[in-house]
Amino acid sequence: MNRFTLATLCEASHNVVKTTTACNLGFALAEQGHKVLLVDFDPQANLTMSFGIDSPDELKMSMSNLISLLMENNPLPDESQYILKGPTLDIIPSNINLSVTEINLRDEMSREHILSELLEPLRSEYRYIIIDTNPYLGLLTINALAACDEVIIPASPQLWSATGLADLINTVVKLQRKINPRIKFAGILLTICDERTRLFREAKKLLDDTCGENVRIFKTHIPNTIRVGEANYSNKSILDYDANSKASIAYKAFAQEVISYGD
Ligand SMILES: Nc1ncnc2c1ncn2[C@@H]1O[C@H](COP(=O)(O)OP(=O)(O)OP(=O)(O)O)[C@@H](O)[C@H]1O
Ligand SMILES: [Mg+2]
Repeated sequence: MNRFTLATLCEASHNVVKTTTACNLGFALAEQGHKVLLVDFDPQANLTMSFGIDSPDELKMSMSNLISLLMENNPLPDESQYILKGPTLDIIPSNINLSVTEINLRDEMSREHILSELLEPLRSEYRYIIIDTNPYLGLLTINALAACDEVIIPASPQLWSATGLADLINTVVKLQRKINPRIKFAGILLTICDERTRLFREAKKLLDDTCGENVRIFKTHIPNTIRVGEANYSNKSILDYDANSKASIAYKAFAQEVISYGD
């Protein structure tokens, strides 16, 4: 079965570890032998950089070019021109130009479905397509939600509020009615966790009480560790940067959870 997964989203969900999760889940799934495509749909291009591309703004072909070609009804170039291949997984990169494309999208007729149009033909080639979104619920994020089958919501106990998560769940339900009836919640992933602290225990309990009945809360918690920041700074996945770190082990366990609930 081909599965689309979306790592992210949320109004006011800045820095909840969306990109780190998209990247490391992708690398961990690839390590398990699955064919994975990462899709950077954020003009900040952090996912593209984690893939080892140091200067995304110098890319000749990136997400913004593809979206523009589709808006103009022009043919896309050959896949080899826009899907960058790494040793274990592939990426469609992004850069800052995508923010201009988002503005142009506003005048487009089927503006919510342009990303779907790009990704639909690729579904048969990949087992997992992981889209990283930006932190705002604008047209880019709506496109990502329209294109995906499932949403992973990373949430950090230090940052989230129960109201924020409830709003987010309502937004996805609304989108389900209006734009993408097949969309499902994969679940909530707790990130930057200090399991021994009272804050963590209280946040986890509040989460279980408010969302636990309706949405899966993944058993894996991603620990708070400086190694992830170091890996991001080196433009690497944590799996490449330090395969035995606590965060690598956690992301591998998370990938296992994602693989097994889909079977
Ligand atoms: N497990 C972790 N422990 C500690 N810090 C982490 C961990 N994972 C990620 N970080 C740090 O948290 C910050 C935010 O991570 P990331 O860029 O993945 O978030 P994001 O949700 O994609 O942000 P944005 O909203 O800007 O797109 C980064 O500085 C990253 O290095
Ligand atoms: Mg990000």
